[in-house]
Amino acid sequence: MIRHIFLLVFCFYYLIYNVSARDKIKPSTKSKIDNVLSQMTLEEKIGQMTQINITMLMTDSVLKHYDSVMTFKLDTSKLIEYVTKFHVGSFLNGRGVSKSSWFSYMDQLHRLNMKYSRLKIPLLYGVDHVHGSSYLKEGTIFPHNINMAATFDTTFTHEMGRITVLETSALGHNWIFSPVMDLGKNKFWGRYYETFGEDPLLASLMGTAVINGIQNSKEISPYQIAGCAKHFIGYSDPKSGWDRSPAEIPEQHLREFYLPSFKAAIDAGVKTIMINSGELNGIPVHTSYELLTKLLREELGFKGILLTDWMDIIALEKMHFVAENEKEATYKAIMAGIDMSMVPVTTNFCLYLKELVKEGRITEERINMSVRRILTVKYELGLFEKCFPDSSRLSWIGLPTSKAKALESARESIVLLKNKNEVLPLKSGGKIVVTGATALSKVALCGGWTYRFAPRSDWWIPIEMSTVFDAIKKEFSNSEVVFVEMDKLKEVEATADVVVWVAGEKEAYAETDGSISDLDLSEDQKEWGRLALSLNKPVILVLTEGRPRLLGDLFDKCDGVLFAGLPGVEGGTAIAEILSGKMNPCGKMPFTYPYKQGHIIPYNYKRSEFSVLRPVSDELHRFAIAEFGHGLSYTQFIYENLRLSDTIVAGNKSIVAKVIVTNNGARFGRESVLWFVSDEIGSITRPIKELQHFEKISLQPGQSKELVFEIIPSKHLSFPDKNGKILLEQGSFTISVNKLTKRFWLK
Ligand code: BGC
Repeated sequence: MIRHIFLLVFCFYYLIYNVSARDKIKPSTKSKIDNVLSQMTLEEKIGQMTQINITMLMTDSVLKHYDSVMTFKLDTSKLIEYVTKFHVGSFLNGRGVSKSSWFSYMDQLHRLNMKYSRLKIPLLYGVDHVHGSSYLKEGTIFPHNINMAATFDTTFTHEMGRITVLETSALGHNWIFSPVMDLGKNKFWGRYYETFGEDPLLASLMGTAVINGIQNSKEISPYQIAGCAKHFIGYSDPKSGWDRSPAEIPEQHLREFYLPSFKAAIDAGVKTIMINSGELNGIPVHTSYELLTKLLREELGFKGILLTDWMDIIALEKMHFVAENEKEATYKAIMAGIDMSMVPVTTNFCLYLKELVKEGRITEERINMSVRRILTVKYELGLFEKCFPDSSRLSWIGLPTSKAKALESARESIVLLKNKNEVLPLKSGGKIVVTGATALSKVALCGGWTYRFAPRSDWWIPIEMSTVFDAIKKEFSNSEVVFVEMDKLKEVEATADVVVWVAGEKEAYAETDGSISDLDLSEDQKEWGRLALSLNKPVILVLTEGRPRLLGDLFDKCDGVLFAGLPGVEGGTAIAEILSGKMNPCGKMPFTYPYKQGHIIPYNYKRSEFSVLRPVSDELHRFAIAEFGHGLSYTQFIYENLRLSDTIVAGNKSIVAKVIVTNNGARFGRESVLWFVSDEIGSITRPIKELQHFEKISLQPGQSKELVFEIIPSKHLSFPDKNGKILLEQGSFTISVNKLTKRFWLK
């Protein structure tokens, strides 16, 4: 009897101990997902694949709330309906409201979802914080990507990603729709400024640094955030230049120039990818099994979530006309490989997808594949453990150290294109006449995606932000600084010492708003420039623009030219500091600034653009006012002693190139050292040269540094054919750095 009692007690303790011990063992993410998935109804699975815009959750129209009280309020009954009836697993979007407003909204949203979601599945919440915390009143706004690329320093893009999540993770934003990994090819494109320019290597390295900053930040623990490489693929080179219009890109070209940045994003572990809304070579990318499944998943090994862009399943019916109705469109997109639909203002997707499964046209196994990917990201981000915002971290928003990083990025992103007779830096004292269409504008420095989609006026921008004029006034306290309108310029002819003409793009634009059919600077602004030049004083042109607006002969006539791009909230200050010489400019062009409309080519053009067999005049040969990589400094850098460890490269054995760079001027400077390689003969025509490596260095006056570039044949001398097969062809190559060149041979 005693033995039996003892046995019973033992069994009881054994069971209790083991069950609780088993509970303590963290099952792998996979088995957790299997467990959740096995309990989900079809409707719940489809809900996970659905993303809805927040305008659907507002108590009133967005504009009314935003304009009047700069806040937004959650309509709790609508949210509960989305969660309980449609089981929606993701929401998106924002406005530039205050942190407290964001906090209460997001807190309520996540808490109500966890309360009403039957299986307690947390939400993914996506926001377009594309250049810092774009949608947060007190947040830090960095320059746009086109500027960030001009820094040629990936520490800045890393910081941009890091600071964005530092400021927004505790608000419950767990998915940042950044970075744009599209190659900046078509200069007409209204989203040009969102790219990292025209070079695949630069775009890859700048973009992956953003991804690392967003996804791998330990400081925000226990939060973790997903990045989103967008918009796969070919979006940035529509034939007409207009947003979401057709692109035609040969397969080989696509692989050589447009694919590397996305491949780099995948290799860097990006958790999500957003798809190009447009058509590529006659096929809307959202329906392309070849691109979404074969290329992205099978070839490149992408394991994360494939998200449609805005309304793009509907667009298959209503924009591309490849589907008779929304249900067929849903079928095509899901069968091509889409995991989640940014629907985002109806719930039809849920209905049609369910019908397609019930009819047996889409298997539940196919649905499970997508839901698994979505749940995996949710687990990896730790959302099942913590998804609620944290008010104790609101003080991390807009820290002076973060704003200082944005200012530093802006300073390093401005490119000195021209400095005739060393007109810059400007001397202190005298009278500076500031003029031009963008001199008094904040939106012209910030561009789209700043506090809102496309801020129409400075009303949306913080009061304390300086325009170029404000900043010059502050910076040149010993000078007389005046702003003069175009029609009053003649009145200051006798008194002005120098004219700063600030020109470019007046309006902030995003997406379709940015479509244009003429790249020239507007005629009224050109006229403004001519008047400024007619004063016969030195004229410094400051270009504030998201893409190159063509200047014609005005570039040649101005004494100094700064490409300031879209340098963001700190941009005015950065420009003024460069004009005064407090900051020595060190940006370099991330794209080729065309001279005329008729022959717009990138720096890495093919040799037959200018054939020696059919030479063209010098005038025609001039295709750019500034090529990719051009950028002046107030000091001089001398490049000497370029040498190679060997001139014969055998097989895949690498060789080493070295060069010495010296600061030969009188002031400290930073220099981006760009290494280009030209493949002289190829079975597929080769670009005239290609950037293969870069490094940014700091040099005191008189200081020298030796730079080293290891040329690895498989990495730096190869190229893909149209099927992605990597070709490494024997023959002669030239390496160039600054004006120095050396030849070598691959045997
Ligand atoms: C844009 C995306 C953006 C999305 C969500 C789309 O219209 O193309 O870049 O992430 O909207 O706002």
